[in-house]
Amino acid sequence: MTGGLEGSDWACERGEKWVSQLPFMEATLAPIDEPLISALQIDGPLRIADIGCGGGGTTLEAARRAPTGSIVDGFDISPALIETAGARPSPSESGVNFEVADASTAPAPEPAYERLLSRFGVMFFGDQSAAFANLRRWLAPGGRFAFAVWGPVGENPWMTSAAEAVSTVIDLPPGPQIWRSLHSRRASR
Ligand SMILES: C[S@@+](CC[C@H](N)C(=O)[O-])C[C@H]1O[C@@H](n2cnc3c(N)ncnc32)[C@H](O)[C@@H]1O
Repeated sequence: MTGGLEGSDWACERGEKWVSQLPFMEATLAPIDEPLISALQIDGPLRIADIGCGGGGTTLEAARRAPTGSIVDGFDISPALIETAGARPSPSESGVNFEVADASTAPAPEPAYERLLSRFGVMFFGDQSAAFANLRRWLAPGGRFAFAVWGPVGENPWMTSAAEAVSTVIDLPPGPQIWRSLHSRRASR
C-alpha cells in the first residue's frame, strides 16, 4: 500500500514534510517497534540496517536494544530525513550511522548485514521485485529481515477515516487510490 507515493517523491518534498511532522508521526508509529524489533531476534552483537529509516526513531530504538558491539545503520532516500536522524543523540554502546541511499538499487554494503528491519519504509519501491532482490543481497546468509507494512487501504482506518468523514458531506472527486477504495467500499454496502 503506497498511496501512490514512490521513493523519488520522498527524496524531496515528501521527506521534508515528514521532517516537519516527525514528533507526531513517530509517537503514532512507536507501538510498532516492540513486535518489529522482537521479530529480528537480536541475539548477540550484530550488524543491523534500518531500511527507509526516516528520522531514525526505529534505528535508535534498535540500537538501544542491541548488545554492546552492535552496528546499527539507518538508510533513507531523503537527505532531509537523514540529516535530522544524524543530529539526534544515539546510545553510546552501539555504533549508529545514517546514510542517504535508495535501498531499491544501492549496491550491497560490505560486509552484508545480519539483520534488516523496516517500519513502513519498504512500501514505496517502483519495482518491488527488483528492490527486494536487491535487499536480499544486503542480507548475510542466515540473516533475518523483519518489516512492517500497512494492509490494504480499504482495511486501514488510519488512512481512510478523514476522507470517509469528508465524503459524508461532499462527493469526493476521482483521485487517489484511497478515495477510489472508499468509493468501492461504499458501493458494496
Ligand atoms: C512512512 S515513512 C517511514 C519512516 C520511518 N521508518 C518511520 O517509521 O518513522 C517511509 C520512509 O521510507 C523512505 N523511502 C521511500 N523509498 C525509499 C527508498 N527507495 N530507499 C530508501 N528509503 C526510502 C522515505 O524517505 C521515508 O522516510
